[in-house]
Parts: sequence; C-alpha cells; structure tokens
Amino acid sequence: MDIVLSGIRSTGKLHLGNYFGALRNFIRMQEENRCYFFIADIHSLTTHPDPKLLHDNVKNVLVDYLAAGIDPKKSVIYVQSDVRETIELYLYLNMHAYMGELAKTASFKEKARKQPENVNAGLLTYPTLMAADILIHNADKVPVGKDQEQHLEMTRKFARRFNNFYGVDYFKEPVAYNFGDDLVKIPGLDGSGKMGKSEGNAIYLSDSPKEIEKKVKKALTDAGPAAPDSVKPDYIENLFTLLRVVSTPEVVQHYEDKWNSCEIRYGDLKKQLAEDIIKVTSPIRERIVEIEKDDSYLRRVTLEGAEMARESASKTIRDVREIVGFRSF
Ligand code: TYM
Repeated sequence: MDIVLSGIRSTGKLHLGNYFGALRNFIRMQEENRCYFFIADIHSLTTHPDPKLLHDNVKNVLVDYLAAGIDPKKSVIYVQSDVRETIELYLYLNMHAYMGELAKTASFKEKARKQPENVNAGLLTYPTLMAADILIHNADKVPVGKDQEQHLEMTRKFARRFNNFYGVDYFKEPVAYNFGDDLVKIPGLDGSGKMGKSEGNAIYLSDSPKEIEKKVKKALTDAGPAAPDSVKPDYIENLFTLLRVVSTPEVVQHYEDKWNSCEIRYGDLKKQLAEDIIKVTSPIRERIVEIEKDDSYLRRVTLEGAEMARESASKTIRDVREIVGFRSF
C-alpha cells in the first residue's frame, strides 16, 4: 500500500484550482492508500497573517476538505502545527539545504517580487518545510498541481542528500502525482495563467451559483476568431481548459467546432461553463454550510488526526535522531 500525503496552505477558502489540482485526487486516492492530508498553517506564516484570520482559514480549509469528501475514517486529516515533529525534521533538513539552491526556487523568486518588504528566512526555506511535511511520513505519492512540481523535485533531492550523507537508505523519493494523468494547472478567468487566491481571479467551492455566474460572465473574451481554425488566444484557451475539466467531451467538442467554424457565441459558452461549474460545486457548497456549524465534529477530527499523524511522525523522528547521531548514553 502506498503512502500518500498532501497539504493545502491555510490562506483562504479553496478554489477550483485547489480542487482539480489537488483535492479531487485526495478523495480518489483515499480508497486504496494510506493517506495523510494536512492543513499547512505553518507555511501560511510566511505572509504574516493576522492570528484571527489564520485560525479562520484553518477552519475554512478543514471544512472544505471534509465537504469535498475526505473521510476521516479513511484518511488522516491534521493541522500541520499540531505535529511538531515536522518542525524538528525541517531543522535537520535545513542543515543540508543551501542558500543558492533555495534562492533559485521559482516560488521564492515570485514571492520576493510580490512582497519585497518581507523576504524572510521562512520564505527562503519554504521548500525544506514542505520536504519535511512529506518525508516525516516517508510518502510515496504527493497529489499536487503543476505549480508544486519543482518543490517535489527538491524534496527528492533533500531525501537523496540525507541518505547519501549519512550512508543510509532511509527516505524514499516521493513523486508528484495526479490520478491517472499529467499534473494540471487551472487557469484564471481574467486571462492570467493560473487561478489563485492572491491573484483575485478565483472561483471558490463555497461560491453561490449567482456568484459563479457573475464571475464567469466577466471572463475576458473578444470579438471572436477572424478566420476558420484559428489558434485561440490564451484567454480563450483558458475558458476551454476550464470547460474540459467540468463539462462532458461532447460539450467541449461542440464549442471547439463552433470556434473552428467562426460561429462561437461566448455568451452561450459562458452559460454552459457556469452551469457545469455549479454542478461540481453545489453538492460541496451544501455540505460546507452543514459542516461549518459543527465545531465539536471539527475538533474531534483534528484531535484524532493529530494523534494518528504524530504516531507516524514520532517514529520517523526517533530514527532520524539516531541517524544524525543524537544517541543516548
Ligand atoms: P497551495 O496551498 O498553493 O495549493 C494547494 C494545492 O492546490 C494546487 N493548486 C492548483 N492546481 C492547479 N491549478 C491551479 N490554479 C492551482 N492552484 C493551486 C497546488 O498545486 C497544490 O497542490 N506548498 C503547497 C502546500 C504544501 C504541500 C506540502 C503540498 C505544504 N506542504 C506537502 C504537498 C505536500 C502550496 O502552497 O499549495
């Protein structure tokens, strides 16, 4: 049985990018694997959130996990900061992570550009904390979207380096994983490459049908193709990418044909797209409303999850301490 692990940062509610890039895979994978799904609240500290907001966002992610179908009877659900063994492993891994390679990471460069007033050491060592999350349970597969590929490569590098340095074969080399497919990148509706919380272009799982219709209606379009079989500009391709994940192949083909024959009516496409997004999100939204009221359930899930996660994590830390040379007399 493979060990599967993944997490989502607690910076807000989950959107379609999180869902199709990660969460949908979590749910599919929990049937046949040993799964750990956590809420990355320590990672979210890199942007200095207000403590009340941080707590609310941990709840948001937890509720979205449960509403989307992660089952605490099948998977271990926990909050990252509840498993302090992760922080200890992060420290050991940092001793073998180098300034140069960390500073070259795409996510670090992007964050340093976005928040030049707050280029902190946590931001620089973000990939070692992520590696610690994964290696603390010695995971085989990590379901994530395309934007996390580089972090997984670094995790493998850190695992290899640890094994080589200490002459052990302890950590496995985990792979970024998408259930039966390539890693995905869900685009934004504003013509940008990626749907994201900080990009302000996201459709959330908790959005009402009205909000979804409004957001889709506002998506960037143009006057239509000038000639048959034209190449689509990026912002139109983005609409088709979304359509491919939420609609049937027949619907996608219908609009491809309309595009190719220059008969496309964006109003129709958007109406269909909004309808099909609502089909995916509606059942989740309804469960969100139920689950978010049930604080005692949420408390139980996180307490039990933390206990199970710590069981596996503390075993790793015991072994790692022994390997690095912290031994009792
Ligand atoms: P985060 O919180 O930015 O995103 C959570 C997950 O959602 C995916 N995702 C997307 N996938 C496709 N298209 C998009 N537009 C899109 N936006 C987000 C991300 O790829 C990710 O899988 N560093 C991680 C959190 C993390 C983690 C880990 C993940 C911390 N430790 C250990 C796996 C294993 C992050 O910031 O994801």
